[in-house]
Amino acid sequence: MCGIIGYIGNRQATPLLVGGLRKLEYRGYDSAGVSVLDPGNGATSRVVRCRGKLANLEEKLNKEPAPGTVGIGHTRWATHGRPSDENSHPHKVGAISIIHNGIIENHLALRAELHAAGAKFSSETDTEIFAHLVDQQLTAGAENLTVAVRRALQKVRGSYAFVVMSDKEPGTLVAAKNSSPLVVGLGEGENFVASDVTAILSETRKVIFIDEGEIVTVTRDGVAITDFEGKPRHREPKIITWSAVQAEKGGFKHFMLKEIHEQPRAVADTLTGRIDLEGDDVRLDGVELDVKSIKRIVFIACGTSYHASLVGEFLVESLARIPVEVDLASEFRYRDPIVGPGDLVIAISQSGETLDTMEAIREAKKKGATVLAISNVVESSIPRLADHSFYTHAGPEIGVASTKAFTTQLVAISLLAIYLGRRNGALSRERARTLLGELVQLPNKMRDVVDMSAHLQVLARRYGHADGFLFLGRGAQYPIALEGALKLKEISYIHAEGYAAGEMKHGPIALIDEHLPVVVLVPKGPSYDKTVSNLAEVRARQGKVLAIATRGDNEIGSHADDVVLVPDTAVELQPILTVLPLQMLSYYVADLKGTDVDQPRNLAKSVTVE
Ligand code: AGP
Repeated sequence: MCGIIGYIGNRQATPLLVGGLRKLEYRGYDSAGVSVLDPGNGATSRVVRCRGKLANLEEKLNKEPAPGTVGIGHTRWATHGRPSDENSHPHKVGAISIIHNGIIENHLALRAELHAAGAKFSSETDTEIFAHLVDQQLTAGAENLTVAVRRALQKVRGSYAFVVMSDKEPGTLVAAKNSSPLVVGLGEGENFVASDVTAILSETRKVIFIDEGEIVTVTRDGVAITDFEGKPRHREPKIITWSAVQAEKGGFKHFMLKEIHEQPRAVADTLTGRIDLEGDDVRLDGVELDVKSIKRIVFIACGTSYHASLVGEFLVESLARIPVEVDLASEFRYRDPIVGPGDLVIAISQSGETLDTMEAIREAKKKGATVLAISNVVESSIPRLADHSFYTHAGPEIGVASTKAFTTQLVAISLLAIYLGRRNGALSRERARTLLGELVQLPNKMRDVVDMSAHLQVLARRYGHADGFLFLGRGAQYPIALEGALKLKEISYIHAEGYAAGEMKHGPIALIDEHLPVVVLVPKGPSYDKTVSNLAEVRARQGKVLAIATRGDNEIGSHADDVVLVPDTAVELQPILTVLPLQMLSYYVADLKGTDVDQPRNLAKSVTVE
């Protein structure tokens, strides 16, 4: 999830671009850059870009100014190609400068094709490929930049918002959208394009939101929208009334709520380019494992990532039939663990900088185990320490309480389990096909659940005054009970406990009375009947039961005080849906209590101390 901005007008572009990028830095801060054209003196555009935070770019621009009244700017969240100067945007090919937010799925095939046609690449990114494609169309005779972009798009699959500038057409910026956000900001004798209103709100409040499959041609005096076939489209501008801070949160009250609502997109991005429906298989770029030699898998992680690992134990054992252990990283390294050659140690970390997990990796490597990292931050320390790594594509997670990183971790681990099971023969093509089919449908099903805000707000008002909560689940729902309790503790400061439902009668049942809300995860599946009997044990002690169950379950209502129904899916994937109401319940309870939801007391987003 990168930040993009473009300006065309009569004012100096660079300060406007940098000002906008400052507002977009929450979207990604691996590198930044601008390309600016001074139409007055027929010069070519000047590209200034570098690795690291925007401050590095500002420093560089002080030494290498980029004058001109047309320009594009970018702040990067690395997905394809490590953070570096060469991989920074804008990319320039011939007269074409380009910036991009999204992922070109078929980038490998296009790169090979362009390479065969003699193209020379200066970066590892998927984005540079599109600059070559546009340049190719212009060389092949496209009458203008808009036509060239339209023709080049025919070849591209994936998610994108591109902004393209040509030294040969200084009066135009061309942008195109397919699932990544894109807005146009309207001014007097000047116009802007950006990935969200945050970047341009200080300059204009009059914006046009660009829709899927649209190309927008922007000049100083106007904006023309067409579809990918060239047919004109019309859209009335909207007047934005949000404050700048509100805009950064996309109009949501907190980053956490925004990130809860971003989960369908984050999961879709994490699936992009990894599902091979023809082969009933999974592609995991950056992972070359000798699967048949793996004797055992050991997950190591902390906090929410540890809960994802516990779901991973369930997924990998059921889909790949490889024995799995899960360890708290902070315990693993001091336990003189018995790991070694033949063991695959999987380290899960959103930030990629958690010291407990890094030290646990060092311990595992010292003992000869192979280490695979799953992280949300490209080139962070943990993936660099590991032997293999692949990434979730949740985009930057600002709220300290992890939400979208967690569900993308569950999706990444599901992909890994299918990958392992297909390669060691434990998973049949038919079963893989069913699971892959369910995975593809997840983003829409998740959207259904996150749209149940109103219901969860009512439940938060009903239960939010309690002094304690108990969360119960069986099988893969047990870690979700732990995660629900952690979310509530982290942001509302209410004591909460997650417990295996079958374990309740061995102790915590003593806590139950009419004042204790008990959240029970009871989706359809092998543990349903047993969990319903645990639910009855709670109600027998006047406990208040909030059940998270599967849509179409007409029974559960008679066993619970309140019910939240989530869409049905494969048992292995249910945790990705059942955790959503728990995230939302915690959020609304904390919001009612007025705690600092995004930066709760005593917590840090990345724990870099032991
Ligand atoms: C979760 O909401 C917390 N922020 C915390 O438990 C977190 O999961 C833990 O610190 C691990 O962080 P990581 O995934 O970045 O390694």
